[in-house]
Amino acid sequence: MARILLIISGGIAAYKALDVARQLKRDGVEVVPVMTHAAHHFITPLSVEVLCGQAVHTELFQPGGESDIGHISLARSADAIVVCPATANLMARMAHGMADDLATTLLLATDAPILLAPAMNPHMWENPATQANVALLQQRGAKIIGPAHGDVACGETGRGRLADPEVILTAIRDIISHKQADLKGRRILVTAGPTVEPIDPVRFISNRSSGLQGYAIAEALAARGAEVHLISGPVSLPTPPHVTRINVQTAQEMYEACLAHLPVDAAICVAAVSDWRADTIQAHKIKKKGDEAAPTLSLVENPDILATLSHAEQRPTLVVGFAAETTHLQDYAQQKRQKKGCDWLLANDVSKHQFGGAENQVLFLTGSGVEPWPEMSKQDLAQHLADKIASFFHKEAP
Ligand code: CTP
Repeated sequence: MARILLIISGGIAAYKALDVARQLKRDGVEVVPVMTHAAHHFITPLSVEVLCGQAVHTELFQPGGESDIGHISLARSADAIVVCPATANLMARMAHGMADDLATTLLLATDAPILLAPAMNPHMWENPATQANVALLQQRGAKIIGPAHGDVACGETGRGRLADPEVILTAIRDIISHKQADLKGRRILVTAGPTVEPIDPVRFISNRSSGLQGYAIAEALAARGAEVHLISGPVSLPTPPHVTRINVQTAQEMYEACLAHLPVDAAICVAAVSDWRADTIQAHKIKKKGDEAAPTLSLVENPDILATLSHAEQRPTLVVGFAAETTHLQDYAQQKRQKKGCDWLLANDVSKHQFGGAENQVLFLTGSGVEPWPEMSKQDLAQHLADKIASFFHKEAP
């Protein structure tokens, strides 16, 4: 589901933002509402809340709220930020990189596309200060919709009216549909879930991986148009829409299935592959033999799929791995990225986040640095990674 962060700033046109919110909800878009303090003079948070189906955010500092809302993740999890109406004051603060309230903080922290729908008195719009701010914001990538020409609330006529809500909606829908197809034509391999290594017909070696993170990533990539091949160990999850799933049991089968799918543009290795397997699988159930000592299990190492893909002749353009660590997270993850030869590595501390839980918190490591990502749901992490992958291929494109 697309997610729009709708910032309503304080102008007489604020009531028109309600129309925009209502239509977006009808389109099936999640609308996360933010109001500046000034906007509260024009419309009530209650009407916004009812139309958006969720609470309005206004405060930058809310006792106990920071961990729930997480301003940065609020800013970064949106597909786009829409400011409607955008007042001269808000755009001035934004142009100067100020972060003195929640709205400007979110605008400064986001890496999502920003769409501004200005509305103000025509003289304010024409003022060189406003024009310089708008030009600067445009130059930095913000999309400006309107303002339209006509009568404004203060009785004057000129350019300053909020653009027609339908025009604003068309611009938002364009951003959403563009984003939804920005991985079209990319063939991506995702490994997920545990592997299961048999010992005898009834026993096996495996781990607690639920497959949730890998499946969420496969789903997010497919939703953006990628051709996704999900090589999955045994999990009890439905296949995400538009994803081709290949079921495997053992690491060896996963390894072979991955190689058989090359070439791909990207490989995302999320599976918790068993590092070892029994060197011989007993054809019959191993029996207890009276007072003899317990049998010993002799193990051999499984092939490393991530390292193999990273060094393959048909190496995917982008290889991404995950690392589960319990100590020295950053050091071990750095070493692992280099040892395995992958481009990006998402490292999580499994002593803090239970294996198989719904939330995840990772360090995102690339050849050029480390980004700590805030704690978020596995779905949000998948969206975030899909954004990174889409912008990687966008920069790659000739
Ligand atoms: N991986 C893989 N094939 C293996 C083992 C791991 O493709 N045989 C991949 C995982 O999918 C993950 C990454 O390697 O993307 C790191 O997995 P992790 O278990 O953290 O690392 P290990 O290589 O197993 O190292 P160690 O257990 O010693 O930390």
